[in-house]
Amino acid sequence: MSLLIKNGRIVTASDDFVGDILCEGEVISKIAPHLDAKADEVIDAAGKYVFPGFIDPHVHIYLPFMGTYAKDTYETASRAALVGGTTTLIEMCCPARSDDPLESYELWLSRAELSACDYSFHIGVSRFDDETAGQLREIVRRGIASFKIFLAYKGAFGINDQELFNTLKLAKELGVIVTAHCENETLVAELQARLLSEEKTGPEWQNESRPPQVEAEGVHHLMTFAEMTGAHVYCVHTSCREALKAVQEAHLRGVHAWVESVIPHFVLDKSYTEKPEFEGAKYVMSPPLRDASHQDALWAALRSRLISTVGTDHAPFDFVGQKEMGRGDFTKIPNGIPSVEDRVNILYTHGVCRGRIDLNTFVDAASTQAARIFGLYPRKGTIQVGSDADLVIYDPDYRGTLTVATQEMAVDYNAFEGWKIEGRPEVVTVRGKVQVQGSKFVGELGHGQLMTREPSHF
Ligand code: URP
Ligand code: ZN
Ligand code: ZN
Ligand code: ZN
Repeated sequence: MSLLIKNGRIVTASDDFVGDILCEGEVISKIAPHLDAKADEVIDAAGKYVFPGFIDPHVHIYLPFMGTYAKDTYETASRAALVGGTTTLIEMCCPARSDDPLESYELWLSRAELSACDYSFHIGVSRFDDETAGQLREIVRRGIASFKIFLAYKGAFGINDQELFNTLKLAKELGVIVTAHCENETLVAELQARLLSEEKTGPEWQNESRPPQVEAEGVHHLMTFAEMTGAHVYCVHTSCREALKAVQEAHLRGVHAWVESVIPHFVLDKSYTEKPEFEGAKYVMSPPLRDASHQDALWAALRSRLISTVGTDHAPFDFVGQKEMGRGDFTKIPNGIPSVEDRVNILYTHGVCRGRIDLNTFVDAASTQAARIFGLYPRKGTIQVGSDADLVIYDPDYRGTLTVATQEMAVDYNAFEGWKIEGRPEVVTVRGKVQVQGSKFVGELGHGQLMTREPSHF
């Protein structure tokens, strides 16, 4: 199969020009201002952007969590990702403390069989001992070159300081990066208990139970351990200026640290958790939605590239029956805001169209940096000869509305219900195969492949 995309405005993290792209088999074989090549399928992309397939470096699809399971399957989540322009997902494999990492990895991997887009995993480390270390080595050998740790969720995924130290030491030895959820779990537990004892039980208390200082302390803590071990670390879902500052200070000390922020924190503020009739529960995640003033800091840090990547932390729980488990006790609301389908369109509309970031930064943050940091580049994350033909033909003239009524995500609400978007993917290819056409999923489930990744040996 060959595919010729003509006359598109090709935008990568560093380039912006009008040209043609020829895809042969699964890869890009030619790029030029004008190609006369013959192809099985020709698409005219005049007036459209052509972006590299977007990468979401932080999603949850299979997730046993807080007494329930996240709603999506790979069938639903990968379709949602693709119609939203995301061609590669990196899922957090999250074993419980009592689970074996290797068994968990195999379970998570088996869930992805029907994925329509490409995928990889970060392997969660929820305890550390000799046996775990041996299994982690094996998982890295199988091409999973990143760990995930939680400094939050006491008694569930959270690890103690000795385990943190040993996990980072192993990561340094193996040359894998450690992604981390940074919040001080003791402070969270104490603040939650205090609020509940004062009968402050609604979703609007989520922010007060995990204020910016709690996140900044988690980040500072991780930075100190990274400094002592030399490990490379990546702060997931960084939500506030205090946490950004902790990374900046660490950078000045020579710590190898990267920052991810997720789309909900850029555009939603804590007032959403105050919605009446318990609707605020739809907006409960950790770290929580913040005071709106933090959004300016996030956009500025994205512009300056202190924030490398914009992910989602897609964690879909229905309002009915799942978020509702926390009526009368906000600490029991399953955490997460689904957005795998909407990330790219929201970042484009509220970032590029509002003049907050330029097109190259948009591509860099939503695709290229994730590929670079996690060992997928240049196979993914850019448009160049030899790269996978993962392409997004994006229509900047589209005007539409986000709504649960038309979404692919298998969850009973959309956190951005009624929001206007100013552009959307029209055609999306995964390794040369058209999976989205006319902005609809037309592809094949199971086309997605596991992307194995090599450690960096830093
Ligand atoms: O609220 C969140 N973030 N839910 C998913 C689990 C996690 O912490 O990433
Ligand atoms: Zn997290
Ligand atoms: Zn500390
Ligand atoms: Zn997460």
